[in-house]
Amino acid sequence: MIQNHPELVYLDNGATTFKPQCVIDAVNRYYTESCCNIHRGDYDLSFEVSKAYDETRKIVADFIGANQDQEIVFCAGASAALNLVAEGYGAKFLQPGDIVLSTEAEHASNILPWFRVCEKRQAVLNYIPLTEKGELTIEHFRSVMNERVKVVAVANVTNVLGYPVPIKEICAIAHEYGAIVVCDGAQAVPHIPVNVVDWGVDFLAFSAHKLCGPTGVGVLYGRFDLLEKMDPALLGGGSNARFDMCGNILLKNPPFKFEAGTPAIEATLGMAAALKYVRSIGMDQIAAYEEALKKYCVEKMKQLDHVILYNADSPTGLVAFNVKGVFAQDAASYLNSRHIAVRAGNHCAKILMEVLKTSETIRASFAFYNTFAEVDAFVQAVSEITLENCVGLFF
Ligand SMILES: Cc1ncc(COP(=O)(O)O)c(C=O)c1O
Repeated sequence: MIQNHPELVYLDNGATTFKPQCVIDAVNRYYTESCCNIHRGDYDLSFEVSKAYDETRKIVADFIGANQDQEIVFCAGASAALNLVAEGYGAKFLQPGDIVLSTEAEHASNILPWFRVCEKRQAVLNYIPLTEKGELTIEHFRSVMNERVKVVAVANVTNVLGYPVPIKEICAIAHEYGAIVVCDGAQAVPHIPVNVVDWGVDFLAFSAHKLCGPTGVGVLYGRFDLLEKMDPALLGGGSNARFDMCGNILLKNPPFKFEAGTPAIEATLGMAAALKYVRSIGMDQIAAYEEALKKYCVEKMKQLDHVILYNADSPTGLVAFNVKGVFAQDAASYLNSRHIAVRAGNHCAKILMEVLKTSETIRASFAFYNTFAEVDAFVQAVSEITLENCVGLFF
């Protein structure tokens, strides 16, 4: 992508990232050198691909600090993973009157599944109040915690503002009350070091495509005892040990009971390559570099009087802003005319827009391959945005 679009300044990494050659090679290698199904064929090729596929579980477990490979469930992405927890755990264990706690900053994928489950189970979805800036504080969390709360569903880095939540403290407090924590890691796992055991999360969801991997694959990490208790969302080949004419089904142990059907084999192998790649750079280094890009960008943007910044002090590489008097999509179109790719809108976090008191924002999101020169080009283009030159794009 970088070679094919030398003029492009890609600042939409929160939506998806570019893929390094090693990931593209891993996907191609599967199709050109070892194309066959896994866990089903009684021949060398299938054994080899199955082995590489199974080894990916270990690579993921190491990457996020999980205790065992069996706690890693492969699925289609963060949305699929979060829906699986809501349906497989929430729909099974929530009782009428139980509370699911979430926040107004959540992505649709970590709130809509809970709306549905709460309705089904006559449970209640409550919100942890955010500060005016949209941050989640421990004081606010404590203020709404009680024995009726059974699930706390939060992103540990939100996708618009990028404020990391104090996830370790949240988990400790939630556990004191006997609640579990479902963490949406879609914007965290690609950008900061993650350790599920140290944090104490019960579930963690993320997508490979946001961390240099292919689309179509992601991960649900779940504590093994919880995975054992929970139901799969899909049934089919590969997930059962036995079934009979009377409808008796014996499911396999986790993670296999959640993985019915032929998976995205090439994408999973690509995810393994992506994780090795980002690991070779180092998650601490990635986090520090992206924070430096963000700070540099914010310092420059603060000098622009016509810009409203919503998250100047959040440490992750997301800049949420508006240009005064200019509709966000028009401003993004102007940036596009300058070969700068950003996203405008509500970013699937529709309730947050009420907190921020705006219907839309523009989001520039950095990855470790962005440069300070790209930030300069971006800020220069933002400085040029006026209603007149946006209108000029269309006439
Ligand atoms: C915070 C957050 N959660 C969940 C998702 C859903 O990820 P996917 O579309 O890969 O399933 C996204 C995607 O933008 C996100 O930013």
